[in-house]
Amino acid sequence: MKIFVTGGAGFIGSNFIRYMMKKYPDYKIVNYDKLTYAGNLDNLKDIADNPNYKFVQGDICDYDKVAENIKDVDTIINFAADSHVDRSIGHNPGDFIQTDVYGTFTLLEAMKNSKKPLERFIQISTDEVYGDIEAPNFSKEIDPLKPSSPYSASKAGGDLQVMAAYRTFDLPVLITRCTNNYGPYQYPEKLIPLFVTNLLEDEKVPLYDGGTQIRDWLYVDDHCSAIDLVLHKGALGEIYNVGANNDPEITNLEITKKAIEMCGKDESYIEPVEGIRPGHDQRYAVDVAKIKKLGWQAEVEFDEGIERTIKWYQDNKWWWEKIKSGEFKKYYDKQYKK
Ligand code: NAD
Ligand code: TYD
Repeated sequence: MKIFVTGGAGFIGSNFIRYMMKKYPDYKIVNYDKLTYAGNLDNLKDIADNPNYKFVQGDICDYDKVAENIKDVDTIINFAADSHVDRSIGHNPGDFIQTDVYGTFTLLEAMKNSKKPLERFIQISTDEVYGDIEAPNFSKEIDPLKPSSPYSASKAGGDLQVMAAYRTFDLPVLITRCTNNYGPYQYPEKLIPLFVTNLLEDEKVPLYDGGTQIRDWLYVDDHCSAIDLVLHKGALGEIYNVGANNDPEITNLEITKKAIEMCGKDESYIEPVEGIRPGHDQRYAVDVAKIKKLGWQAEVEFDEGIERTIKWYQDNKWWWEKIKSGEFKKYYDKQYKK
């Protein structure tokens, strides 16, 4: 099988490529990535020389380049996105529409017009398209989309393009909607890597709005196994929620305390911050019965996954110190030191 992975130099895409190359040594993978601030070839240093792996720098909005590079592939898996809620609010919201909506549309167009029909297109979406949901309810695949942030609204726009391509053009598409991921190689703008790396640098951590919010944290390898399953067994035109169903549910404050404990600090390192994420979603939770029926099960318990993840950032300063001294610095000052 030859897979065209977009956004493979980012957090989840790079973990997915590593996972697939190990599990299916004969599959060929093209990693097509624009290398925005979040794209980083260091994430795949260990497999860069594998003859079944090829990197192409390109934008998913560039129709001609996409068309040229999908000529002989079987499947497209679209991870490419602008992915950070805070950036979609106060930094570069237009880029979200461009990549997450127009870029998705462009991939579908190129697929539709390809001489060799492709077998599958998997859109990597997010539980955030449902908006937040009160306990004890869980969002289901058939629920209406009610995104709260410019990020989730742009992801919802991408999903709608995908479903329209199924209905109108009969393209063989599927969508996964996963909850928050955590693990190695996550850009340190997101909660867990930001807090852990700040603590390792003896910096405070900016905890928004009391830290009462709930996300259903899933270890990134478990997301990869879900995509693998949907790739091989998912039904065309279907949407699959993916989530850990953490029990009990976990608040941002609890994660913060765990990071503080593992990094040998104390709670004076919490910097309470109010109001810099307007529209802040309180709780995400998805019903995962459908993907479980297909045969998927999360393997990594949160306690184990978070310890593994924090240890990875402790052991891999080479990876994040480079990032934090570059583009990130400007972003951080604008976001937190206004
Ligand atoms: P990320 O920000 O770490 O990586 C995004 C990648 O896409 C980067 O490598 C970037 O260079 C690339 N990219 C951006 N714009 C591009 C363009 N126009 N053309 C080609 N490449 C482009 O994101 P991530 O956390 O790895 O998320 C991957 C996907 O999974 C996204 O679609 C996101 O919406 C979805 N998702 C993420 C999470 C999460 O918790 N991180 C949860 C559910 C779903
Ligand atoms: P984030 O990692 O940005 O993911 P998402 O917004 O897509 O869920 O944020 C996770 C949670 O952590 C969210 O409730 C916002 C909160 N948060 C903070 O409290 N401080 C921060 O500096 C960041 C980045 C997030």
